[in-house]
Amino acid sequence: MATLDQQENRQQSANFGEGIGASLPRIDAPQKVSGRAMYTSDHRFPGMLTAVPVCATIANGVVRHIDVSAAKSMPGVHRIFTHENIGNFFHVNSSSGAKIDERRPPLDDTVIRYYGQYVALVVADRFEQASAAAAAVRVDYLSEAPNVEKMLTATDKLKTETERGDVDTAFSAAAITLDHTYTTPVETHNPIELHASVALFDGNAFTLYETSQAIVNHREVMSQMLGVPAENVRIITEYLGSGFGGKLWPWSHSLLAARAARILRRPIKLVVSRAMMFHNVGHRANTQQRIRLSATANGKLTSLQQDYLFHIAQTEDGKEQCGESTAYLYGCDNLRVRGSPVRRHIAPNTSMRGPGAVPGLFATESAMDELALQLGLDPLQLRLQNEPAIDQHMNVPFSSRHLSEAMQTGADRFGWGRRNPAVGSMRQDGEILGWGMAACSWMASRVAAQATVTLSQDGSARIFSAAQDIGTGTYTVIAQMVADATGIPIAKIVVTIGNTDLPPGPMSGGSMATASMVPAIAQAIREAIAQMLAVASVSPQSAFHGLQTEMLAFTAGRVHRKDQAPSSGVPFAEILQAAKLSGVDGKGKSGARSVDADANEISIHSYGAHFVEVRWQPEIARLYVSRVVTVIDAGRIINPRTGRNQIEGAIVMGIGMALFEETHYDAHNGKPVNNNLADYVMATHADSPEIDVVFLDYPDQALDELGARGIGEIGIAGLAPAVTAAVYHATGVRVRDLPVKIEDLLKASCKSS
Ligand code: MOS
Repeated sequence: MATLDQQENRQQSANFGEGIGASLPRIDAPQKVSGRAMYTSDHRFPGMLTAVPVCATIANGVVRHIDVSAAKSMPGVHRIFTHENIGNFFHVNSSSGAKIDERRPPLDDTVIRYYGQYVALVVADRFEQASAAAAAVRVDYLSEAPNVEKMLTATDKLKTETERGDVDTAFSAAAITLDHTYTTPVETHNPIELHASVALFDGNAFTLYETSQAIVNHREVMSQMLGVPAENVRIITEYLGSGFGGKLWPWSHSLLAARAARILRRPIKLVVSRAMMFHNVGHRANTQQRIRLSATANGKLTSLQQDYLFHIAQTEDGKEQCGESTAYLYGCDNLRVRGSPVRRHIAPNTSMRGPGAVPGLFATESAMDELALQLGLDPLQLRLQNEPAIDQHMNVPFSSRHLSEAMQTGADRFGWGRRNPAVGSMRQDGEILGWGMAACSWMASRVAAQATVTLSQDGSARIFSAAQDIGTGTYTVIAQMVADATGIPIAKIVVTIGNTDLPPGPMSGGSMATASMVPAIAQAIREAIAQMLAVASVSPQSAFHGLQTEMLAFTAGRVHRKDQAPSSGVPFAEILQAAKLSGVDGKGKSGARSVDADANEISIHSYGAHFVEVRWQPEIARLYVSRVVTVIDAGRIINPRTGRNQIEGAIVMGIGMALFEETHYDAHNGKPVNNNLADYVMATHADSPEIDVVFLDYPDQALDELGARGIGEIGIAGLAPAVTAAVYHATGVRVRDLPVKIEDLLKASCKSS
């Protein structure tokens, strides 16, 4: 269980505040930089074996025969599993709330539906032996041509997701209309840490070290699919080297490792290779979105239509809900969003940072920029004048929306007022400057969560929850919440998460972990303090013996009389020691609060604005992002340091989305051809500009008592359309198909040089 001892943080935390709003450095940083933090694949156990899957080399067909004869006698090989000897897995009961994106269990049948699908699993003493034997497994296929075509055509009628007013009449009657199609490609999650499972079975129960953003759901899925009671499955994820949504739901390798551990009665380690991560653990689906806008001549939106398609796998029903933020972002009386999935011979898709809204906003915010040009309006002005008074989708007020202020603050800091709108008109240091902007939004919700807080006789406060820190600062913000509510210094706070033996915590997804923890932690602390005061009141050894608990208070780690100064009080550790108690516990539990569940009350979302500068050298067709100003309205910011780090990371990922990232599939065999970090291009430090992040910091009590909304995903929302708007301003080339390619820009390069 990941338990953080704060000894070495004393010094650093003394230099920063410790409570809510303090820019506290991560409390887990010393463990990480010293190599003591145990990531999933760092775990090793006596007798542990290594498993390496064999992946299909076709994308559509059936397995006729698997020949393991050569592989099976290779050095170190213990067992080779195929559909014939792995045994059955159960399916997930989808009405139970358990979630998995690849519902078909591994090795379930002989049908191949995507390149890379697992067809066998080799277990050997060492990784090298397992890899060599996996390469020696011969699979004979009956293969058919796959369909991995990028352009999508609706096979069924588009399904209406939201509709108000009469878009068709408004569109045909309008003075100004726009009708464009935008596409975004398949993007593959590439967290530094590979997916992995280390599975142990003791004859009765499983202990599974996993790379999971949601250990409680992971346990439920594994329990159902392995057919064992949930209490016999323990999931451990102490640290995660990021996930970006790719590690939200369990994947087939976890089942393979668990089953192999059960059959062989040996610990099994299975690490998913970088190449396999391009087909066995999800991706962001490609999208194709037709946007139609109409407006009055002075720029009031009169209709908005979004018709979108996205690909899904043959057997699964992954979603890429591009209309996520369309219906409430701007005021518009006539609006319709329709969407439909299209099947391809591509592996199952999954959530990727800001799923739905991020590709959706690329289309809708790009269209807003193009509409502003048609109108001869500043794109900032067009957005400001379409600010809605209420959420027209839910027909309720906004809980806390400061989009206009975010845009205006960003404009001031960026110097937007100095922008000359003429294409290619701004120059500096011999380079052409392009300035673009876009708005962004992301949902703000809570899921159910529980936590226990213990005040211990050693003077520490210990907090326990089956949450997980995916690298974003969850350990740290939990400690800050406890420090803030108890006055106990960070150095005496111990955070224990990442193990399903603990009270069930939230998933780390949908930017919901922090807000979900807030009420549970607050309640647990209130209860622990009430217990503490009761001990002080009833313990014969206590200085407060016989006083009513109503006369007592707990301040800065001391129990004191309410009518006397806190400094007159007694440290809680002394009271516990005198009473011979090891500690007192408080338990907290909170429910979900979602956009949907509260649809009749209030609209809770986060907002923001990006201002982007690109520099363009037409002589050598070189383009790069040189400056970003981002203003975020995400409620109360619990830790501006880790918060800014989240937004900066999301912006860099957004630059990758705009300029680099795209998974290419070979039309002949459906293979992701750029399945490595050399060919799948992502933004690096060298591509990361000066980034100025501003938080508006308006607490939103509609979501939780601290007023904190999520922060993990909103930074990437709207970034790509701000980049392509800047690219247009610099080059005159409007890129509607991401990523921006050199071929697109050469048109401008040839023109101007
Ligand atoms: Mo995020 S895509 O909900 O991990």
